[in-house]
This record gives sequence, structure tokens and C-alpha cells, in this order.
Amino acid sequence: MKIKKAVLPVAGFGTRFLPATKAIPKEMLTIIDKPLIEYAVEEAISAGAEEIIFITSYTKPAIKNYFSRVPELEKQLKSTGKIELLEKIQPKIFENVKFTYINQKEQKGLGHAILLAEEAVGSDAFSVLLPDDLFISTPSCLEQIRDSYSQNLQPTIAVNRIDKNNIHKYGVVDLGGNQLNKTNTAVISNIIEKPHASVAPSDIAVAGRYIFNPTIFECIKKVEADNSGEIQITDAIKLLTKIENVQVKIFDGEKYDCGSKDGYLEATIAVAMKDPYYSNKIKKIITGKL
Ligand code: G1P
Repeated sequence: MKIKKAVLPVAGFGTRFLPATKAIPKEMLTIIDKPLIEYAVEEAISAGAEEIIFITSYTKPAIKNYFSRVPELEKQLKSTGKIELLEKIQPKIFENVKFTYINQKEQKGLGHAILLAEEAVGSDAFSVLLPDDLFISTPSCLEQIRDSYSQNLQPTIAVNRIDKNNIHKYGVVDLGGNQLNKTNTAVISNIIEKPHASVAPSDIAVAGRYIFNPTIFECIKKVEADNSGEIQITDAIKLLTKIENVQVKIFDGEKYDCGSKDGYLEATIAVAMKDPYYSNKIKKIITGKL
């Protein structure tokens, strides 16, 4: 089964990465030589995306530029025989993919951002990928939850176990006595956005990959803004649990939270360590044997 439309909310200011993000969108920060956002786009395509819907801001033109062709550069790379670079700037997997940009005028939260995609999404299931979260796994995290979704067409959220000290940073689910099945999937009874550790219903936290049916849009419309004026997707999911079974799947693989500097640094090192050339370099730096 293909999840043909993918929504990527990318309108945030990225204040945690200032001063860089004054001019560079945080999603354009690179892991070695590839922007973070491209990892999420590749993942969306791995699960069958034919249209990538960016919810973005007019203050971040670099994202649209990045997914547009640059004929002058292509011509130069062709004429100088740099074919491998040509493939890097215009990957084959992008050939039949449509890129759509929707401007989020106000920063009113993730739920608000996703709702802006309603018309573009139409009547089919769609995925949401938060590019801050970088996953390293085969099959990709989105393919794994797509496989769970395709079993029963129930909205599916990728989750992982998080320690008590960090649980307050995430949406946390309550399985309400339901058991995880053989594929580490379970229906949830509730979900709470960023609870204090003392009231967290479990240690199972939402990672940034979701597959929804369009019913989620009706739920988002009913959500009231929280104390900080944001419409949370987590609150819409809570309403959704009353209408549809919502399931979570504990994904197999590694996840890096590139929304924080620590996570970004870890992701850079993790990706580099998977490459024989860079892993050698890093080992030499660390052991002082450069
Ligand atoms: C968002 C969601 C949260 C989820 C997290 C995953 O939070 O609101 O429920 O657990 O993404 O990365 P944010 O990281 O945008 O604060």
C-alpha cells in the first residue's frame, strides 16, 4: 500500500538554533552534506508519497529553492562530467514527486499547521513527518507504520520508549490495558501532550511520524488552543480516539531529535559513523591520532 500524500510542517522559526536560523531554516541544516528535510522527504517517498505538502513560511524561501531545479548548475555539472553530483541535486526518486507549498501565516501549533493541508490532502490517508526527528532504520520508520496502517486502516503513530527524565518533552500515550501485539502495535485509550513525569500515563512517547485518515481534520477543528495559544495535534488525536481506533507502533531503529543541539550533534556523528571514511576520521580525532 502507498501513502501518496505526505505533510511536512516546517514553518517554525527554529529559535533553538539561533543565530544560524536567522538566515537558514533549521530544516536546511545539514547532516554531513544533506539537509535534514531531505531525509524526511526520502522517508515519505519510501512509503509511497507522490506529493509532498510543505506547511511553510514565506520567511523560509530556501526550502522551496532547494526542491526546485537549478538549470545553470545542472548544465555546469553535466559539462564538467560531475554526474554523481548531478544525481545528488536532482535525485531520481524525486522525478515523479510533486512538491506543494502552503504558507502558515501564524505560528499556531502543529495541529493548526496540519489543518492547512486539508484541501491538498483530499479524501485519502496521508502521513505527517516532523523533519526534526531523524530516523535511521531499514525499513524506514514510515514504512513500518504504513505496514501497521495497511492491516486495518486505523490511524497509526510511531512511538518509542523514553526515560522518565525526558518524558515531559513528548506526547505520551495511554494503552488503557491494551497489550502490544507481536508487531509491537496497540490501540491507545488516551494521549497527553508533554505531561510531567509524575502524571505521564506510560513511558511510550510519540515520535514524529503519523498516518491519519482525513477524519483527523474534523477533530483538529474542534480543538481549543492551549495556554500558549497553540492548537496541538495531540489534543486532536485525543478526540480521534473517541471516533476511530488509534494505534501506536513501537518502531525498530534509531531516532535522533534534531530539534535540539545535542540531538543534532548525535545525529551527525551517528550518520558519519556509518560511513567508513568519516568513521575513521572521527576515531582519529577522538583518539588524538590525526
Ligand atoms: C511534537 C509533538 C509531540 C511529539 C514530538 C515528537 O512536539 O507535539 O507530541 O512527541 O513532536 O518529536 P515538538 O517536538 O514539536 O515540541
